Amino acid sequence: MKILAIETSCDETAAAVVAWQKGRPVVLSNIVSSQIAIHQKYGGVVPEIAAREHVLNILPVIEEALLAAGITRKQAPKKLAAIAVTAGPGLITSLMMGVETARSLAVAWDLPLIDVNHIEGHMSACWLGEKLPELPAVVMTVSGGHNMLVLIKEPLKYKILGDTRDDAAGEAFDKAAKILGLGYPGGPAIAASAATINNYQLSIINERVAPSTSSGQVAKIVLPRPMINSGDFDFSFSGLKTALLYQIQKDSSINSGQANWQGRRAEYAAEFQSAVADTLVSKTIKAAKKFGAKTVMLSGGVSANKVLRAELERRVADKLPGTRVIIAPQAYTTDNAAMIGAAALFRLRAGKTIIWSKLKADPNLEIK
Ligand code: KG4
Ligand code: ZN
Repeated sequence: MKILAIETSCDETAAAVVAWQKGRPVVLSNIVSSQIAIHQKYGGVVPEIAAREHVLNILPVIEEALLAAGITRKQAPKKLAAIAVTAGPGLITSLMMGVETARSLAVAWDLPLIDVNHIEGHMSACWLGEKLPELPAVVMTVSGGHNMLVLIKEPLKYKILGDTRDDAAGEAFDKAAKILGLGYPGGPAIAASAATINNYQLSIINERVAPSTSSGQVAKIVLPRPMINSGDFDFSFSGLKTALLYQIQKDSSINSGQANWQGRRAEYAAEFQSAVADTLVSKTIKAAKKFGAKTVMLSGGVSANKVLRAELERRVADKLPGTRVIIAPQAYTTDNAAMIGAAALFRLRAGKTIIWSKLKADPNLEIK
């Protein structure tokens, strides 16, 4: 059973062919046309430009994904079992490009359609690695637009445990990078700057370990861990970015011009990364404990972050021995269509398709 999956919810035009093989989704091809270089000069995604780029890219990307999976356009109607597409959440004009293309192909090729929630797609990337999750699982999905903790007790049943009250962690990374003058997208830029510190160790405020610097001395930069002890599973990262801004404005070493800004900036980047990772991991572990999860999962664009990945592995092994940790494979962390295909295969196997006339792009689509 092979399906073509399409993802255009933000600034990546993506298509993949994913098959159900030996009881699991397997990626046969995965093509992503990134618009990062185009949006970089604006410091963020410009929706109108993103939509225009999708128009130009979508058919060549689909053709490439089919051919890479050994399927010609002529063979597609016979070799494919369905067409899947991200229906939301995301930018409406971007979503519409994928949705209308999927609808047109499904009608032309007379194939079933599967509508996929983008966050469900991110979570499903955890089924594309070597180890498979065991349920119940607690999944942290953290990207530019989303910051959600979800409990999965059985396939296709999602219970939202917590969400962000303002900015998602990815958005906070992007804004913090702007404050630090580190460029877009912020997550990889902050990670790269932090990585220039020798012996960088993640600071865990709860466990009273102070951040260390290249000189081995204790750094003075300490940022808050927002809502870390709030007793619920919600997040709030908007204040963290503001705290960073205020500390930089007050930093006399910068204002007096004495500081080596590159080095000092790396310390800010490292502490910002620590604050985000510390908060995300701490709450994920609390949720896993409370709901007796057999697996802790991590997905979404921010899950590309190596410090976050390592910290989740380390702390689950320490605090929840015997619990499986499954993190989306690096290639399927930021937006891609393989994860949409994986989610769609579970839906198709459960008979969940949608009639072409009912498919609708929904920028605020909720997860059920
Ligand atoms: O999942 P994604 O591609 O798009 C959304 O659904 O939003 O996530 C993009 C986000 C951006 O905010 C980007 O800064 C962040 O993921 N990101 C990272 C890293 N790579 C991407 N954040 C932290 N560390 C990274 N290595
Ligand atoms: Zn995403």
